[in-house]
Amino acid sequence: MAKTHFDSDYETVFDVDAYLNLLFTDVYTCGGGGPGDGNYLLCLQIDFFKKATFTGNRLLEIGSGPTVHNLIPASAYFKEITVAEFSKPCRDAVEKWIRAEPDAFDWSHFFDYVCAKEGNGESWKSRQENLRKYIKGVIPCDVHESNPLGLNSLDPFDAIITSTCLEAACLDNQSYRSAIKNITKLLKPGGLLLIWSTLNESFYMIGGSRFHALPLDAEFIINAVKEAGYTDIKTTKFPVPPFEGIEKIADAEGILFLTACKL
Ligand SMILES: C[S@@+](CC[C@H](N)C(=O)[O-])C[C@H]1O[C@@H](n2cnc3c(N)ncnc32)[C@H](O)[C@@H]1O
Repeated sequence: MAKTHFDSDYETVFDVDAYLNLLFTDVYTCGGGGPGDGNYLLCLQIDFFKKATFTGNRLLEIGSGPTVHNLIPASAYFKEITVAEFSKPCRDAVEKWIRAEPDAFDWSHFFDYVCAKEGNGESWKSRQENLRKYIKGVIPCDVHESNPLGLNSLDPFDAIITSTCLEAACLDNQSYRSAIKNITKLLKPGGLLLIWSTLNESFYMIGGSRFHALPLDAEFIINAVKEAGYTDIKTTKFPVPPFEGIEKIADAEGILFLTACKL
């Protein structure tokens, strides 16, 4: 079996362009808007923010990879956003997009989709420009550290979003529980936590390289979140995208969307 990558391999082996091109062009829109489709994931976030009660406008995304899609629904509410990511090539890709460099990944479809779904008459171009302005920093982070932001100590945030990062970063259940506790220190009491997680995934393939994922079930994730000091935990489970040959790319059995409020 091919070597399984994790940890510092995200700085060296992880192919940022292959990741973006595979997941956010081909796989993301293969489900025609139904469960498992990437647009459906954005819809869940749009609905969540519409109904949620929260205060403040400071948001932290942890382990963004080279992506910004998760910030699009949130940017209707949070105007001061910090992106934290372990790997420099991923941070560089986000910064390239902020600077609107010609070879940055094109997220316009995602902005267009979110604005249309929200139905507030906002143009996707203005939303895109706003998000570029709202991102105040793209900084390193390591969820295994007691302070994941290291020297970049910042005031606690009003909300944290993390998407398929913890299961990639953690090699066992104990380190997953610790990682949730570590990121929780970055959140204000009463703050929101949003987690996207794969379910029971043990690997995923990017550009021919195999990456580790920690197989987790929903019950374990809910308990880890509870143990880290959250209440009002809500989850939605749905299938992986119906992409032809998906079983060769990853072995996830489903996806979990979890929201919770820090005590
Ligand atoms: C599967 S990617 C998810 C990227 C993105 N959030 C998404 O939804 O597409 C996993 C991410 O976790 C990051 N990661 C790996 N180890 C980490 C660690 N110790 N601390 C923080 N992030 C880490 C990787 O660099 C990578 O960007």
